[in-house]
Amino acid sequence: MTAQRSDQETRTSAWPDVGLRFPDEFAWGAATAAYQVEGGATADGRGPSIWDTFSRTPGNTLGGDTGDVAIDHYHRYRDDVALMADLGITAYRFSVSWPRVQPAGAGAANQAGLDFYRRLVDALLEAGIEPYPTLYHWDLPQPLEDAGGWPLRDVAGRFADYAQLVGEAIGDRSHHWMTVNEPWCAAFLGYASGAHAPGRREPAASVRAAHHLLLAHGLATQALHAQHPDHQVGIAVNLYAVSPASDAEEDLDAARRIDGLQNRLFLDPLFKASYPDDVVADLAVHGDFGHVHEGDLEVVATPVDLLGINYYSRHTVSGLPGESGVDGTSALPAESPWPASEHVRFVSAGRPVTGMGWEIDEPGLVEVLRRVSESYTTVPLLVTENGAAFGDELTPDGLVHDRERTGYIDAHLRACHAAITAGVPLRGYFAWSLMDNFEWTWGYSQRFGLVYVDFTTQQRTPKDSALWYAEVIRQGGLPSQAQ
Ligand code: FCB
Repeated sequence: MTAQRSDQETRTSAWPDVGLRFPDEFAWGAATAAYQVEGGATADGRGPSIWDTFSRTPGNTLGGDTGDVAIDHYHRYRDDVALMADLGITAYRFSVSWPRVQPAGAGAANQAGLDFYRRLVDALLEAGIEPYPTLYHWDLPQPLEDAGGWPLRDVAGRFADYAQLVGEAIGDRSHHWMTVNEPWCAAFLGYASGAHAPGRREPAASVRAAHHLLLAHGLATQALHAQHPDHQVGIAVNLYAVSPASDAEEDLDAARRIDGLQNRLFLDPLFKASYPDDVVADLAVHGDFGHVHEGDLEVVATPVDLLGINYYSRHTVSGLPGESGVDGTSALPAESPWPASEHVRFVSAGRPVTGMGWEIDEPGLVEVLRRVSESYTTVPLLVTENGAAFGDELTPDGLVHDRERTGYIDAHLRACHAAITAGVPLRGYFAWSLMDNFEWTWGYSQRFGLVYVDFTTQQRTPKDSALWYAEVIRQGGLPSQAQ
């Protein structure tokens, strides 16, 4: 590390300026999620989650990979915190595993499970790193899925009870909370396409799941605020810039529809206490929103103190007949995470892509940040996830020369700076991810980390992008020109 650091110092001492300076209090973060990094699948009384069941079912993940061991963060968290401190990271976004805290999804807390988060938070604070826990990053306790899962209203109330247990355990030391991570993914990948746990393909149920995830967020926000009135509570939504492939009416309508399902279906209830009429009309084939009870929307729109935005890419869509749809296939239907959008095709805009095949589009981040702060809310925003997978290799010199990732993050940090300059109250940036980890259906095949992980030895090696990010943090910004 020391040798690498001095190598980096030599390179960055050539920075001509720090023309793009970020605010002094800007949170320079990195993010992970429990199931993707912790391992310790049965340690200290942890119960099974839907991701344990799903990933252990043959055919669901690439190579049959599971998070049973993952990158063993459960046992190596001290070293990982030290690594973050070494890089100068000032904020760590991690998620709390619900089945560690409540193995059956209800009832008294499993104190041994909570102890892990107490230790983690203490280690972070000792290292001067601000903890940003997320309460739900997709690992629903299996017993709750067995009872019906997120399409069932009851789960929202259970979630608020769980939030309260975590709030009691670490709320004296941890003041920033994200309730739910990416309700779009949890609802539509989990219950419409079935690409994620619990792997159900029931579009009507997925629409109910989306509402109950939002309701869960509102109830948990109220529970945390009741306990800790001065804490900052929010939700992390995954937003996309959306463009029509052309000015054709069909393409404009496809863009309206996909923007509706991706962005407005979540932002409108959260900040306007209503579902968008056009999206409700699009989804009418899957039900009449009778699952939305009186008063629910006021709960969903419980005032938050901040909003987390996960941003990766832009969708370019067409409503005209053609050859390619999602992932280059022509058929959206059964396996699509887009209810009532069978005719929509996702097309390439010709921009460079990451290892996931996601187009790199940093102007879209400025667009999304401005849209949210101009049309939805004035609360402080955080980019709670942003990053890219590439085919990283540990080279014989013991380093990982991931220029593309550095380029991706550099471009998106410039977008953050542009948004701040335009008046967006952006307060922090969390790179996804701190370390390579279990990338859901992709198993260990996609590396998003700033830190390279050898999945056999569990050895951690900061990639060039990590050393570069450390320098950005040290300088408090970026040179005027990308290098
Ligand atoms: C987001 C997830 C995160 C990770 C990144 C690549 O959708 O929140 O866990 O998988 O994508």
